[in-house]
Amino acid sequence: MDKILINGGKPLCGEVNISGAKNAAVAIIPAALLVEGKCIIENVPDISDVDSILKMIKSLGAKVEKSDCNTVVIDSQNLTSHIADPELACKMRASYYLMGALLGRFGKAQVPPPGGCNFGTRPIDQHLKSFECLGCKVSLDETFVNIDGDELGGGNVYFDVVSVGATINAILAAVLAPGKTVLENCAKEPHVVDLANFLNSMGASVRGAGTDIIKINGVESLHGGTYSIIPDQIEAGTYMAAAIATRGNVLIKNVIPKHLEAITAKFEEMGVTIEEYDEEVRVIADKPLKSIRVKTMPYPGFPTDLQPQMVVLLATVPGTSVVNEGVWDSRFQYVTELEKMGMKIKVDGTVATIEGGTPLCPSKVCATDLRAGASMVIAALACEGTTEISQLRHIDRGYEHIVDKLLAVGADIKRIND
Ligand code: EPU
Repeated sequence: MDKILINGGKPLCGEVNISGAKNAAVAIIPAALLVEGKCIIENVPDISDVDSILKMIKSLGAKVEKSDCNTVVIDSQNLTSHIADPELACKMRASYYLMGALLGRFGKAQVPPPGGCNFGTRPIDQHLKSFECLGCKVSLDETFVNIDGDELGGGNVYFDVVSVGATINAILAAVLAPGKTVLENCAKEPHVVDLANFLNSMGASVRGAGTDIIKINGVESLHGGTYSIIPDQIEAGTYMAAAIATRGNVLIKNVIPKHLEAITAKFEEMGVTIEEYDEEVRVIADKPLKSIRVKTMPYPGFPTDLQPQMVVLLATVPGTSVVNEGVWDSRFQYVTELEKMGMKIKVDGTVATIEGGTPLCPSKVCATDLRAGASMVIAALACEGTTEISQLRHIDRGYEHIVDKLLAVGADIKRIND
């Protein structure tokens, strides 16, 4: 079992290069199943969630080659099956994108309910509702969600909840469906826009991504091409938080500063200096920091996927901070691990109250999920002495070469096989 050991308490200084966005990659790779020619996808992060989704599309008959560790060539010409492998699908959340992609490609799909991090109930009713609004029949059996798209065509979908996954799945299902589709109350996350840009560059007609209303004119087919995935907003925010928690000075490279606006605003409110350039931001934490209140919300609000990292950061700042989780009903389960390091965090439902500035003590902690794992890395970087982090498979799902990136900014960190 691998572990990360961090001897913390030293300011991070230097440069970090941000990888392609995980949540864009895990949508764009299944979207390549809709394309008849070869798709060359660049800036794909080298993470285990990408490996899992590539394995899944391979098991359906897609040809997949990696020309280097961040470029994937997908040829779906000879796709053979509309049935997703249950063992592979239960390993990750994004397996649900095979529903929209296989439906668009074959007019039918059988995909098991998805796995992924446990934040309480994670329903997919809005995904299924969107397929029904596009004329499909949906049924569930012990293993699969079965979608029969004999009558698949354009339609109107009003999402009752703003959902990234449901918005993307409805786009995937509608792109090749005859007629016009209108999606209302859509998610506006950068990865929704990236998916639409990918599809449009292959010949689709998806308009309005990044706003509440997305309109799609079904086209007969999509052609191959080359597309480069956007930088990962959450990975960037994670390294910004790490730089601040250690009171460092780090240049975060290969980012789209617009995607970081809500994150930058909250860090500035704490007293951090952020310098913005075209594709870089510099984070300088050289002044005393203030406690703040944060509420997570769908984009353009403060992202829930940075909530654990923010909680840890605020635990290093004297005073009382309050973090309100506005997206998931149970995303503070990791707090018990942080308490082992001396953090004073009280959770009441979806609200965490943090009494910051108490001394941190090194400990043995367990990465309970992907972003919680990232928050433990930040806690260890901020804490004098050696902290041991286990269950790295969660961190490996979403952070490319995290140990090398942190070594490059001066962290005393190593990965060991115990
Ligand atoms: N929801 C419903 N019904 C649905 C779908 C969602 O009620 O059919 C609710 C959820 O319970 C939640 C809210 O809507 O309260 C938002 O869920 P959403 O569907 O937007 O989440 P998701 O698509 O399953 C993606 C990311 C998550 C991220 C959320 C929110 C991927 C693969 N996952 O999940 O990322 O937290 O959006 O931004 O894109 C992560 O990267 O660590 C991660 C968990």
